[in-house]
This record gives sequence, C-alpha cells and structure tokens, in this order.
Amino acid sequence: MAIDPKIQNLRDRREEAKLGGGLDRIEAQHKRGRLTARERLDLLLDRGSFREVDAFVAHRTTDFGLDEKQFLGDSVVTGWGTIDGRLVYVFSQDFTVFGGSLGEVHAEKVCKIMDMALKTGAPVIGLNDSGGARIQEGVVSLGGYADIFLRNTLASGVIPQISAIMGPCAGGAVYSPALTDFIFMVKGSSYMFVTGPDVVKSVTAEEVSFEDLGGASIHSSVSGVCHFVAENEADCLFLIRKLLSYVPQNNMEDPPFVKSADDPLREDEALDTIIPENPNKPYDIKDVILKVVDDGQFFEIHADYAQNIVVGFARLGGHSVGIVANQPAVLAGVLDINASEKGARFIRFCDCFNLPILTFEDVPGFLPGVGQEHGGIIRSGAKLLYAYCEATVPKLTVITRKAYGGAYDVMSSKHIRGDLNLAWPTAEIAVMGPEGAVNIIFRKELAEAEDPVARRAELVKDYREKFANPYVAASRGYIDDVIEPRETRPRLINGLELLAHKRDGNPQKKHGNIPL
Ligand code: HXC
Repeated sequence: MAIDPKIQNLRDRREEAKLGGGLDRIEAQHKRGRLTARERLDLLLDRGSFREVDAFVAHRTTDFGLDEKQFLGDSVVTGWGTIDGRLVYVFSQDFTVFGGSLGEVHAEKVCKIMDMALKTGAPVIGLNDSGGARIQEGVVSLGGYADIFLRNTLASGVIPQISAIMGPCAGGAVYSPALTDFIFMVKGSSYMFVTGPDVVKSVTAEEVSFEDLGGASIHSSVSGVCHFVAENEADCLFLIRKLLSYVPQNNMEDPPFVKSADDPLREDEALDTIIPENPNKPYDIKDVILKVVDDGQFFEIHADYAQNIVVGFARLGGHSVGIVANQPAVLAGVLDINASEKGARFIRFCDCFNLPILTFEDVPGFLPGVGQEHGGIIRSGAKLLYAYCEATVPKLTVITRKAYGGAYDVMSSKHIRGDLNLAWPTAEIAVMGPEGAVNIIFRKELAEAEDPVARRAELVKDYREKFANPYVAASRGYIDDVIEPRETRPRLINGLELLAHKRDGNPQKKHGNIPL
C-alpha cells in the first residue's frame, strides 16, 4: 500500500534530523575515535527506550550566513528513556552540527528536558561534546548557558545530575558540568578547561598540551574536577548506568533495593587479623570494605584523587550505602585539604539523596605543615565537619584503628549525630598517638631522666595501655559497642535495618553557610 505523503514527509524529516551535520561530519567524528550523539544514547539507554523531543527545532540566526546552514534538531539531541527500566532525561551534544556549539535553541532544548526532569523527579544525564558558546550567536549563547546554570543549581539536591565529557568542553561551558553531581571523562578524548592552551600561552607564556591542561588524567588526579575516568566511550556510558543503580530517582525517594545472595549474617574471620600488630604499619582499607559489603562490590568514586580518603557506593543486605573511609595505605590516612573536600562533597550527595553514610575510621589526625595551613586546611577540614554534622541520613561508623584528635570528632562521631558507632578492639581513641602525647606531657621528666630512651618506652607503653584502646570511649557511651571485626557485616546490616525509618532534621533556615 502506498504511504500517505504526509507520513512520508514526517519520516523524511526524521531521517534528516538523524543525520545531524551530515554523513561527512559523522565520518569525521568516527575518525576522531568518537561516537555520534545518537550512538552514545543507544549505548546509554535501555534498548528502544529513547523518546526524542524537539527533533525539528532549528536555529533562528541569520548573521554570518547561518540562515544558509540549517540542521534539524540543531546541535543537541534531547529526550528521555530508561536505564534498567527507570526513567532518565538526557541531552547529547552533536559535534557534527556546528561543533556541538551552544546557541539559543540548543539551550532551550536542554532547559526543556531539565524542567521536565525536575517536575517529574528523574535524573538528568548530559553527554557533552561541544566547542562552547556558538560564536555567531554572541551574547544569546551566553544567556543560554546561564539559563542552564540556573537550572543546574535549582535541581541540585532534588534530582541526580550526571555529566559525561566526551569531547572538548571549553570556556564557561565547563561550569554546567561542574554544577552537577558527578563528572565522567574518557581517557584521551575529553578535555575541560576555562581557557585553552593558546589563551594560556598568550596570558602566562606557559606551553601546555590539551591533555596536560585539561585531560581526564589531570582532572581525575590533580584538580579533582572529574569523578570517574573511563577507558573509552562505551565504558563511560556503562559506568553511568552502574552509578545510577545505587541512587534514587530524586530526593523524595529511597535508593533502589537490590537483593543479593550474599548472606547478611556472613562473618569474615580474616577481618580479625587484618590490622597489623604494629600500629604504624599500613593496610588497605579497601580490603576491609570488600570483605564487608554485598558480593565484594564497591563502586569507588574519585579513585585517583586524594587517595588518603576513599569514597564510593556499595550495598549491605541489599541497601545502598555511601562509604567514606580513611585509607591508612596512603599518607597513613591523614586528613588534608583535598581529602576533606572530597569527603565533604560525597557526604552531602549522600545526605541529599537518602543514602546512609558508612564511615570506616583509621585516622591519625589532620596533616600538619605550612602548605596545608596556608592552603586553608582549617576551612577545608571545616567543610568535612560541617557535612557530617549537617547530614541527617543514617550514619554508621566503624573505628578500625586510630581515631585521634579533631579527626575523631569529625569522622561521624557520636557527638555529631552518629547513629551507630562501633569500634574494633584494635581501636585507639585518644587526643593523639602515644609517642606524641608522651613527648608533650612528660617533656620535663624525660629531659631529666637518667635513661630517657628507656623511660620514654615505658611511658609510651603505659599510655598505650591506658588510652590507646576503645574502652575509655566505650565507658562513656561515645562508642555504642566494641565488636569482633568478623561480625562487622551482620552488625552493620542490623544497624541499617534499625535505622531504615530514621527521622531527623535540622532547624528551619534558607540554607546553611558551609565554609566554602
Ligand atoms: C560555532 C563552532 C564552534 C563555536 C567549533 N565550531 N566551535 N561553531 N561556535 N564555538 C564549528 C567549526 O566551525 C566547525 O564547523 C566544526 O564546529 C568543527 O570544528 P573544528 O574546529 O573543525 O573541529 P576540531 O579541530 O576538532 O576542534 C574542536 C574545537 C575547536 C577544539 C572545539 O573547534 C575550537 O577551539 N572551537 C572554539 C572553542 C571556543 O573557544 N569556544 C568558545 C569558548 S567561550 P564546520 O562547519 O567546519 O564543520 C565559551 C563561553 C561560554 O564557551 C560562557 C558561558 C558562561
């Protein structure tokens, strides 16, 4: 039967829209080793679930001969679909159309789906691949960016927002991803910078490559702007799907419950001996995490940045949790500026989205040093403290070894509304470590001692026996219980179930003033 001409016309238009900037530019995109905007959406979303909107939108600019260059849908593909059957809104910038640059209608399309996401309470995922503000549209493009920034900010803490950088991301365009919850980058093909290598050279005379200025490795390990580095684009899209499996659709819902065959009552004897005899010897806190959580699955965030603190998602008895853990294997697990900020940001995400926070604590304190003091460790440490104090989600803490000084208070202590605070028998909870404490309180005595080395060793031993254990804290109720390490998993799962309907709040206010 002949197809109705009107239907054929619609189909032709759809086909035209699907071609974006045309076959040559699609080929050029593939030659760069990058997928097109639509190919990326195919990999990201459940098969056949994508519903496009605004495929027929076209720009309205006539300057610089742009009226001669019209592409259906302009330089971004937008709509919604599902990931593991759950609704998500998406926009995917199309580099084949004006280099994915953002003009008036591109911004309108993105804003439209962001508004829908906010109204319907579902995450927004942005796949960024763009030359930035569309130069020919001038200030109108800048206004378009600002419209998006405002929505990013209003949606923050209401729906999860995820950004994947899959090509260049330059100029003020980096600030929309920076306002979202998580940034993914792809090794070797994504770049983020406020000003590119040429501008840097003209202003500061520094010569730097794209990769060294704003590649995935720099942003994941040095600046901390990027949370996840993917090996390639397919890996990046897979990781986004995985991340979403841990988080709820919005701030009014609970995270998904994923039943596991891992027995909630499973004990692990190996934990009993995981802490080295020598308190100054490192061990890897990730070994502890993997032995405790469901199926040994830990989805680490910011894996290459501030490695002295570890953050990420896991499940316990099927419940999603956010884990924050000091890492004794790196800088002895000390808290410095970067670790404090990394921890604080993650805790605030968990608190926004009803994810219980599980803290594994083994921390000798805050890092001393001129660099840290001048760099603002006071302000940064306060961010971590603020984030823990403010959080009202269930908070569970396990002190595995050191809990010294201010860091004891900060790391989800009972005093700042820790709900279930457990310690292993190896815990040392004190103002400072035995050596430091003896040096200060017995300075005079040691100076006068006949054999200062022997006397010092004796005093350190005494102090360790008296204070470097969990029982002083437990005698005051600062620790709810001292447990055998092997029982950690069942005790935590029991705690999560106990706290499943926890209700707590903060005083009414417009918002607090976290020390930024
Ligand atoms: C309009 C642009 C464009 C832009 C690229 N194109 N960027 N069109 N506005 N900003 C077009 C090119 O003209 C070309 O069109 C196509 O996209 C591909 O670009 P190429 O340069 O051929 O590709 P490539 O060599 O891969 O280089 C990609 C690039 C480069 C690194 C992104 O194009 C570039 O440097 N663009 C300008 C980046 C920039 O300075 N943007 C403004 C930042 S300021 P044809 O027709 O040939 O295919 C900003 C302010 C935002 O964004 C402020 C918000 C607060």
